[in-house]
Formats: sequence, C-alpha cells, structure tokens
Amino acid sequence: MKILIAGASGGIGKYLAERMSAEHEVFGSYNSRQPDIGLSYNMTKVDIGCEPEVQNWIDQACSAEDELALIYCVGVNYNCMMHKSDAGLWQEVIESNLIGVQHVLRQILPLMRGKKFGRIVLLSSVVPQIGVPGTSAYAASKAALWGLSKAVASENARYGITINSINLGYFDIGMIKDVPSEVLEQIVSSIPMARLGDPDDILKTVEYLLSSDYLTGSQIDLNGGLF
Ligand SMILES: NC(=O)c1ccc[n+]([C@@H]2O[C@H](COP(=O)([O-])OP(=O)(O)OC[C@H]3O[C@@H](n4cnc5c(N)ncnc54)[C@H](OP(=O)(O)O)[C@@H]3O)[C@@H](O)[C@H]2O)c1
Repeated sequence: MKILIAGASGGIGKYLAERMSAEHEVFGSYNSRQPDIGLSYNMTKVDIGCEPEVQNWIDQACSAEDELALIYCVGVNYNCMMHKSDAGLWQEVIESNLIGVQHVLRQILPLMRGKKFGRIVLLSSVVPQIGVPGTSAYAASKAALWGLSKAVASENARYGITINSINLGYFDIGMIKDVPSEVLEQIVSSIPMARLGDPDDILKTVEYLLSSDYLTGSQIDLNGGLF
C-alpha cells in the first residue's frame, strides 16, 4: 500500500510517516516547516488550500496501479471567542481543516475508484463533542468531517474505498505543545485516564482502519474517556 500523509511535517503526521515508512512507501506533504534531510519517506511542499499544488503532489506521488491510503493530518486552530473573532482568521481554519480535505479527495478519489481500493483516515477531534470556549472555527471544521465522511463513504463503498475519522482527545504531541502549562494541567485533570494520549495509540488506530475493508463512514473516539 502507498500511503499519503497530508501534514507530515506536524507532530502527529511526522510520527506516523516515520513509523509507517518502515513497511510502506510514504509520500508526505509539508507547508511551512522544511523537512529534515535523509528522511525515510518523500516530502512535497503543498499549500493544502491551493488545489493545483495538491494536484501536483498527487500526480507526482500516485499512479493508477497503486493501492492508495490517505491520512489527513493537516490542522490549524484559531483561538478566539466568536463575538470577537476575525472573519479572515476564522475562515483560514475552515480552509485548512475542511476545504483542504475536499481538494485532496477530489484528486485522489478518481485513482482509488479506478483501482477499486482506497483507505482514507481523517483526524478530527473531541473538541466539537465537548464544546470548548474559543474554538468555534476549529470545532465547526472538525464536526464537518463527520458529515463529509458519511457522504463520501456511501458514494464510494462499492469501489472498495473506506473513509473514517478519528476523534482525538489530547495527545502528547503536535499542537498541544502551544497550550500554556496551567491550561494543560486543567485539561489533564479532566481526562478520566488522567494523562495525555500516547501517539502510538493513534498509529495503532490508523493501522486498524487501513486493515479493515468493512468499516466505513464511522468515527473512532480516541480520548482516554473524555467526552
Ligand atoms: N495533537 C493533538 O493532541 C490533537 C488533538 C486533536 C486533534 N488533532 C488533530 O490532528 C491533526 C494533526 O495535529 P498535530 O498536533 O500534529 O498538529 P501540528 O503539529 O500543528 O501539525 C499541523 C500540520 O498541518 C500542516 N498545515 C497547516 N496548515 C497547512 C496548509 N495551509 N497547507 C498544508 N499544510 C498545512 C502543517 O504543516 P507545516 O507545519 O509544514 O506548515 C503541519 O504539518 C490536526 O488535524 C489536529 O487538528 C490533534
């Protein structure tokens, strides 16, 4: 299986790319963070909001013969109360977290449908399930992935293509590093398992979703019991 990871320069995407490239051919994308040299996987610069750049990445990485998997790890947050929010910054979150998915799927689904095989995993979040102040754009973008997955699942089920989302709680990697320590303490104290998630659990869940050919249009809640 050839695995495409959108956002392979971020904490979670990089973790998955490093581990999965031991067994699979991995093609990652980055935007602003230059990749290290000597990686065990390919990296292409892609602004996910720019469909021609997405198309170029898919054209370079994929061929009609490939069995393809896509893991969408792109994500940005804009923390602001709705009534004070900046319309442009709010929209940027929707562009990266939701419209970017559309750009990649529009390019990769024709290849998957032609091959009659495909695996798509989207990283969503517990945030829209619990309602966190200051996260309206992020929560809206992540909840939208659930509806998108169900529609795309039903459109493509007969083509051997599955699409599912993982609703992540708080993990000890990536964007959590921007959270101030006092807020992080409050978050950890609210998690029934009383600790941040281990990224290895994300890897195991992704591997499970790639291995199943009957699970589609679903969400897996990976959050240490936090709802
Ligand atoms: N870490 C957690 O605890 C957690 C919890 C819940 C959900 N999630 C979700 O899991 C995913 C990965 O999170 P993370 O913690 O690994 O975040 P991260 O370290 O901040 O990585 C974000 C990734 O998104 C890419 N990106 C952002 N804007 C982009 C754009 N316009 N075009 C292309 N790429 C863009 C970044 O690329 P560059 O850095 O190269 O610009 C980076 O690779 C996200 O969807 C996030 O919402 C994470």
